[in-house]
This record gives sequence, structure tokens and C-alpha cells, in this order.
Amino acid sequence: MSEKIGVGIHGAGWVADEHLNAYMANPHCEVVAVCSRKEESARRAAEQCGAANATIYTDYEQLLADDRLQLLSICTPSHLHVQEGVAAAQAGKHFVMEKPMALDLDGVYALRDAVREAGVKTVVGFVLHWCPSLINTRRLLQAGAIGNIFYVETDYWHGVDDWYGGWDWAITKAEGGSSFLFGGCHAIDAARWLTGLDIVEVAAYGGGWDKRYEYPPTVVGIVKYSNGAIGKISSSVDIVAPYQFNIDILGDEGAIRDNKLWSRPLAPASSDWAEFPAILPDSGDVEHHPFEGEINHIVDCILNDVESDVNIEDAVNTHEASLAMDMSAEQGGATIKLPFRD
Ligand SMILES: NC(=O)c1ccc[n+]([C@@H]2O[C@H](COP(=O)([O-])OP(=O)(O)OC[C@H]3O[C@@H](n4cnc5c(N)ncnc54)[C@H](OP(=O)(O)O)[C@@H]3O)[C@@H](O)[C@H]2O)c1
Repeated sequence: MSEKIGVGIHGAGWVADEHLNAYMANPHCEVVAVCSRKEESARRAAEQCGAANATIYTDYEQLLADDRLQLLSICTPSHLHVQEGVAAAQAGKHFVMEKPMALDLDGVYALRDAVREAGVKTVVGFVLHWCPSLINTRRLLQAGAIGNIFYVETDYWHGVDDWYGGWDWAITKAEGGSSFLFGGCHAIDAARWLTGLDIVEVAAYGGGWDKRYEYPPTVVGIVKYSNGAIGKISSSVDIVAPYQFNIDILGDEGAIRDNKLWSRPLAPASSDWAEFPAILPDSGDVEHHPFEGEINHIVDCILNDVESDVNIEDAVNTHEASLAMDMSAEQGGATIKLPFRD
């Protein structure tokens, strides 16, 4: 493909600037349009990110009707993702969908089916796939550093208390969904992506202290994985401490704790954990997230006509598990089996 890929952004808020900056840095892309509910928001984002020549839209249908547009990032509040993603697929546009992709099961499958039908390329915003420490962890697991995995634990702990003033939508059930849908889906995705395992069973409890959320802000679930391994995944959006993303993976030949490795096959005479210095997932600020990796990835998928391993199809299990956490917590820890639908 010799011409540049025409790119658009929809929803010009906090995360949109990072998508825009990443597209601006990719030599195969030209940002042709920015769309948002308010014209001034779209214009601000375009100008701030150096895309001042982009066409400004306030109507999503007009954005999708723009012939120059081949790829878009959907960065609107979460309750809008399904209808906007389905419309993008039907218009034949490739898209990056911010997480969560849907707030209910019908939405998850509607998106999956629309993307299957249209055959467009997609990436769901699990940006930790490009976090250096997680890249190391995945490579070590693939190399058999800890043998067969029998326990996987991940935690997304991100107290958004101080700055959710501008995020009125996120604390509601109707627009933000739940603790797992709002943030903890990153922990579910990481557990799956690092290990290559799906989640097949969930039993969860909800709690937390911050009553401003319409849903329990802290939820913890015991999970069973597709190879029979067990584990625990939690999501807290009311932790009173700096952002934490914990990873513990146990195998029959060793263990990984964040960026520390104990490996019998690789280093049998070790007297302590080996540490792999790398950038850790230790900030909730989108300016610290590796969006360039995510955007370069969808561009590569389009240019090379390959499917992403973090596309809508892959994200179905992550969202089923997120929704299962909420269902189980509502039922006081009932066991929920996945998948819900084929
Ligand atoms: N991958 C990640 O790590 C990550 C990080 C942060 C956020 N996210 C996700 O990205 C999405 C956007 O989050 P954000 O933090 O960027 O949110 P935000 O700052 O509130 O921005 C959302 C923008 O969407 C526009 N919008 C369009 N319709 C709207 C409506 N009905 N209600 C409210 N806003 C509407 C608003 O633009 P106007 O100004 O034009 O009204 C708003 O600026 C969410 O799904 C969130 O979960 C992902």
C-alpha cells in the first residue's frame, strides 16, 4: 500500500489525545478527521496533537461517510462502543475500540458478529500488550521458564477517586458498567494474554468503600482457566494508594512475580529471584501507556493483512469473564461457567 491510511478519531476526551499522538507518529497514517459531540473538543484535540488540517465532525455518521477514512479509534464513553463499533464495521472501516468493548453480553456478541461479517481489522484497547515488563513475562512463559502453569493471579488496583470529576459517566452502571468493565478487564486480559489461557469459570464477591460508585468498586473473583489452572483476579477502583498492577504466575518448574523470575530449567542453582529490569505497568495515567505500540500494531495488521491477537474476537472471553464477575458478585459468589454463547 503506497498511499497513507486515512485515520479518524471519535470521542475527543482524555484517551483520544494519546491515540492521536500515536497516529501522528506513524509514517503510514494521515489523520484526516476528528469527531466529537462538541465541535470545540474535536478542534482542541486536533490542534493540540498537530492535526490542525483534519476535518472536524460532530456527527458520527458523517465521519463514517468520509471516503478518506479507512481506520478509526473509538474513544467515546463505554456505553456508546457497541453501536459505534457495529456501525464502523458495517461501513467497512477498520477500528481500534477502547475498552470495554461492551457493557452487556448482547453487545459483546453483536460486535463480534458485525466484525466477523464485515471482515474489518480490529484492536481492543488492552494497551498493556505493549508494556515492556509484560512483553518479557510472556516471552519467558512461552520459553517454558516456569513449566506448566497451574496458578495465575492478576490485580488491577487504580483508585480514580481524585480525578473522576470529569468522568461522571464512568461511575454509573449504565455508562461505566462495573469495576471490571471500567478498569479490571485489563487484569483479565493480561492473565489470558500472558498465559494463552481462557477463563472457563468464575466465582466473585463485590465490596469496596466508595459509595459514589453505582457498582461495587472493588470486586475479587476466583477463576478456573482452560487448562485446569486456578487463580484470582481482582479490580479495585477505590484503592487508596498509588496505581498497582500485580502479576503472579506459578508453574511446575518455577514462578513469576511481576518482573521477578524463579526458574528451575533456566537457572537451577539460583539462590534468589532473578529480576528483569523493565518498565512496569505502574501508572494509570494514559500519558504513560504505550499507545504507540498499540497503534503501530493495528497499522501493521492492515498493511500485512493479518489478524490481531487482541481483536474483538479475542476480547470476547475477557468481556464474558468481566460480566461473569459482576453476575457472580450480585449472586453472592455463585459459580458462573463460560462461554455463555458459541
Ligand atoms: N485503554 C486504556 O488504558 C484507557 C484509558 C482511559 C480510558 N479508556 C477508555 O476510553 C474511553 C474514553 O475514556 P476517556 O477517559 O477518554 O473519557 P472522557 O475523557 O470522558 O472522553 C470521552 C469523550 O467522548 C465524547 N462524548 C461523546 N458522546 C458522549 C456522551 N454521550 N457522554 C459523554 N461524552 C461523550 C466527549 O466529548 P465532548 O467533549 O465532545 O462532549 C468526551 O470528551 C472509555 O471507554 C474508557 O474506558 C481506556
